[in-house]
Amino acid sequence: MEEETLDLAPLEDIFEEYETKKGAIIPVLQKAQDIYGYLPEEVLQTISRRMRVPLSQVYGVTTFYSQFYLTRRGRHIVRQCDGTACHVRGSARIISVVARDLGISADETTPDYRVTYEVVYCLGSCGLAPTAVIDDNVYGHLNPEKMTAMVRELP
Ligand code: FES
Repeated sequence: MEEETLDLAPLEDIFEEYETKKGAIIPVLQKAQDIYGYLPEEVLQTISRRMRVPLSQVYGVTTFYSQFYLTRRGRHIVRQCDGTACHVRGSARIISVVARDLGISADETTPDYRVTYEVVYCLGSCGLAPTAVIDDNVYGHLNPEKMTAMVRELP
């Protein structure tokens, strides 16, 4: 895989706003993640230095809050529900078929960063089980064929 050089310049606007504010580490991390889609190590080191917060503490925050990602995510986020209602209607089979089709395991990202495929436990749409969310759109009454076709179509 090609190593891309990370452009840290966009972080400057964030530091300009927050550098002097004590305890602003969470909004800084949120804004940095909005820029990069995740929080690369280089970004965390820069934040640690500029915000004068020990790197171990910065990591502590990112691992405590599930909203932060330390690895690069796919362009499309597919969340397949395997909660009780979906499970009894065959979600486990959908997960294994779709993951195999993508060539990854559940909760992984394809090597080309096209898709991150996550398993979640209830999307609040049990009446539509089995259910999945693709880039914030909910899809219901799924089966392995339907789901595989939709995931394949994602650009
Ligand atoms: S269990 Fe799947 S949406 Fe609730």
